[in-house]
Amino acid sequence: MAAVDSRGEVLDVQALPLPYFLLRARVAAMVPAEPGQFVMVAGANRPEPYLRRAFSVYAQEATSDGSLVISLLGKVIGRGTEALAACVPGERIPVLGPLGTGFHSVADSASESGRAALVAGGIGSAGLGLLAEALERAGRSFDFFYGGRSAEDLVEAETFRRLSERAGGRLVKTTEDGSAGERGLITAPLEAGLRAGAGYTTVFTCGPHGLMAAVARIAAAAGIAGEAATETPMGCGYGACLGCAVALKNGGYALCCRQGPVFRLEEVAW
Ligand SMILES: Cc1cc2nc3c(=O)[nH]c(=O)nc-3n(C[C@H](O)[C@H](O)[C@H](O)COP(=O)(O)OP(=O)(O)OC[C@H]3O[C@@H](n4cnc5c(N)ncnc54)[C@H](O)[C@@H]3O)c2cc1C
Ligand code: FES
Repeated sequence: MAAVDSRGEVLDVQALPLPYFLLRARVAAMVPAEPGQFVMVAGANRPEPYLRRAFSVYAQEATSDGSLVISLLGKVIGRGTEALAACVPGERIPVLGPLGTGFHSVADSASESGRAALVAGGIGSAGLGLLAEALERAGRSFDFFYGGRSAEDLVEAETFRRLSERAGGRLVKTTEDGSAGERGLITAPLEAGLRAGAGYTTVFTCGPHGLMAAVARIAAAAGIAGEAATETPMGCGYGACLGCAVALKNGGYALCCRQGPVFRLEEVAW
């Protein structure tokens, strides 16, 4: 579906608490995003930062008047994300989307018999929100592995607990400081689950580069397929600036904003 450049009306911005926030905006002209797709957005009426920032569509809902309400789950790390977290209801913000190529395997999910493992690192959970909902709707069971430095990084744990349990799976949490779930990295229970015969046939991941690279190694060793929602700095979001190259194993490059952000795990030169 074609991306549309329009203005979204901010409905609310919730501090989860900060630095994490959830921004909801009504975007009249936008078509629903596929899981893994993103939008380019910016805060309203601010001279800087002038480049829009890439945000996964975390959740979405079509309203009775034909418009789309999108939810963006964010973490403030600089001026662009700070401007979004500072938006107030009623402000109109530029929204371009939906953009990019989402999770390819979702179309097959209903017929796929095996269970899925979704592996998120911190704010990477934003990239897996629509996917978790789609799998749950398709009746495909999944476990959600949610890792962070500490409990505050697992902001959407209850949402993913609800979705995974409805799908017949469970939420598994780890934190590096032990403040929630097991102490350690989220790859440990993923590997333990695979060793114990959890029956995963697909793994989906989004998070820091190191996590996705580790998940790619684990999936390859276990002989299971998988996909990652990658991130690079982005100037335009639609293939014009060529600033978002992702190195591929075949020696070539792909544009994160067009061929990605979702790639098959075995495609990427991690
Ligand atoms: C396809 C895609 C989807 C994304 N989805 C989300 C989302 O749903 N929620 C969300 O909070 N963020 C998401 N991001 C990341 C988000 O775009 C960046 O956090 C944002 O552009 C940072 O802008 P800033 O002005 O706040 O920070 P900047 O001032 O640009 O950067 C501040 C510091 O953070 C570093 N930095 C910038 N981007 C990243 C990054 N991606 N990872 C780690 N460090 C970074 C910079 O090098 C700099 O040191 C996504 C990125 C991509 C490419
Ligand atoms: S962000 Fe400009 S080409 Fe990808």
